[in-house]
Amino acid sequence: MDYPFWDVGIGYGVLMAVIAVVHVFVSHFAIGGGLYLVVAERTARKKNDRLMLQFLRKLSKFFVLVTVVFGALTGVGIWFVIGLLNPTATEALIHNFVWGWATEWTFFVIEITAALLYFYGWDRMSAKAHMIIGWVYFGAAWMSLFIINGIITFMLTPGDWLATGNFWDGFFNPTFWPSLWLRTGVCIMLAGLYALLVASRYKPDDFKPVLVRYNAIWSIIGLVIMVPTFYWYWNAIPSGIVQTALEQMPTPIASLYGSFWNAGLIAVALILFGLLIPKRYNLVIGILVMIFGISWFFEYEWLRESIRKPYVISGYMYGNGVSLASVEQLEQEGYLGNIAFRTGDDGADLFRRACRSCHSIGNYKALKPAFDGADRAFIAAMVKGTHVIKGNMPPFLGTELEASLTAEHIYGRVDNRHLSQIYGLSGVELGRKVYDVRCGSCHELGGYNDKWESLSGLTAEDLGDILDMAGDLGEEMPDFTGDSVEREALIEFLLSLNEGGER
Ligand code: HEC
Ligand code: HEC
Repeated sequence: MDYPFWDVGIGYGVLMAVIAVVHVFVSHFAIGGGLYLVVAERTARKKNDRLMLQFLRKLSKFFVLVTVVFGALTGVGIWFVIGLLNPTATEALIHNFVWGWATEWTFFVIEITAALLYFYGWDRMSAKAHMIIGWVYFGAAWMSLFIINGIITFMLTPGDWLATGNFWDGFFNPTFWPSLWLRTGVCIMLAGLYALLVASRYKPDDFKPVLVRYNAIWSIIGLVIMVPTFYWYWNAIPSGIVQTALEQMPTPIASLYGSFWNAGLIAVALILFGLLIPKRYNLVIGILVMIFGISWFFEYEWLRESIRKPYVISGYMYGNGVSLASVEQLEQEGYLGNIAFRTGDDGADLFRRACRSCHSIGNYKALKPAFDGADRAFIAAMVKGTHVIKGNMPPFLGTELEASLTAEHIYGRVDNRHLSQIYGLSGVELGRKVYDVRCGSCHELGGYNDKWESLSGLTAEDLGDILDMAGDLGEEMPDFTGDSVEREALIEFLLSLNEGGER
């Protein structure tokens, strides 16, 4: 590791999720809002629609506040978190995209300046100048999306950059365009949804249906853009990544399907309450539709982040900051000699190097449940076998000794009592627990790398034989190092499955 490790105790994934989620919502709102404001202002001025202009003026206050305060704060927050989470990956991104980022910040400064002028300019500027400032606000906001989109999509699909190292190959990577238009659709939808939320609080007079319909049409246009562009986006991701996700990542894929449902719910609500009975568009519906919209976006972002595993930059760097270029050297020399900042506690340093960017012992993505009641040899085998455990983890590249040191570190922080004591179990139920701990992370019954075919129908004796030679069944498969009670219970559990016992 080239950087000292700052252990803040909480999961970085959680920190990142919270800050990044707020940031992406706010930034997309701000961009869509910019477009909404200028387009609606133009129409309203043409028709000399006083009510609409009043509405827009109020709305612009929110957009400006949100962009300037939340957008900027969370944007800076993201830099802090990624610096903690993965300094090496952050460094790689800065090295490649420093001018991209400089350009993005320039656009952001233009965006907030124009947004402030736009807000204060309602009474102080001519209509024409005000509109021009509005367009500058939207244009600069969208350009900052254009640039950041190049960097975000790069992390999943670096494309030809992997071979050429060329800035433009990385920037205009295979998912750049579909993602840009998809996000533009999202911006428009979210702006419409927010405007709807504000409109939902209006008294059901003559203006309300007009306003609600107008805003619903915005959201629907955004949604209509999102459907084909999402399809385009999904198909632009290399098939290997998609295939692995479909086969091995049930949760992100469930999130993908969830997002389809969400989009459907938004569409139905918008057509029904937005277009057909706009007078009934009340606050509850407004909030609900907003929640659907935000959930959709959350599901999308989460999917995008998840399917990148085990990489932080696909094909270039693992999630724990180990670059593929250094794999050979680490395999030969081990980790310790290549950690620049050592604390004197080798086990802790190794754990941080290999695991801590994704796991904690007891909090976020905790390892405790997996290792409570396990022995040192088993934990060491698991450390060495991370690449065959479910979850698409990077391989452990350290030496045998380093795997033991890492295991010792973990062992010292989990519950070392017997499984039966920890969970108060015996018989088949204890066996199920033994299976969960000693087999389940690598062979999920009915799921990831299921081995039930090889285990079903065997006698107690055959099962015993399998446990005796467990270490020979696969290179990374651990020896069975549980005691005789665990062994009996495990066999009892497996036998019970033959009789249709619950998995
Ligand atoms: C790039 C991120 C990453 C790194 C680095 C990583 N893991 Fe994981 N690990 C995961 C994910 C994701 C899962 C899937 C479990 C989940 O969805 O919570 C997982 C699952 C596991 C499981 C199975 C847990 C279960 O529920 O069965 C174990 C055990 C485990 N990891 C141990 C380790 C150890 C030991 C290391 C370090 C040598 C390590 N991991 C490094 C991301 C990572
Ligand atoms: C660290 C991961 C890991 C753990 C834990 C693990 N295995 Fe395995 N197992 C493997 C690997 C790797 C292979 C060989 C490659 C393959 O078939 O996936 C394998 C192979 C097997 C096979 C041979 C499959 C065949 O095709 O005939 C059986 C049976 C099996 N494991 C059962 C178990 C049982 C029972 C446990 C718990 C006591 C267990 N494994 C624990 C990783 C693991």
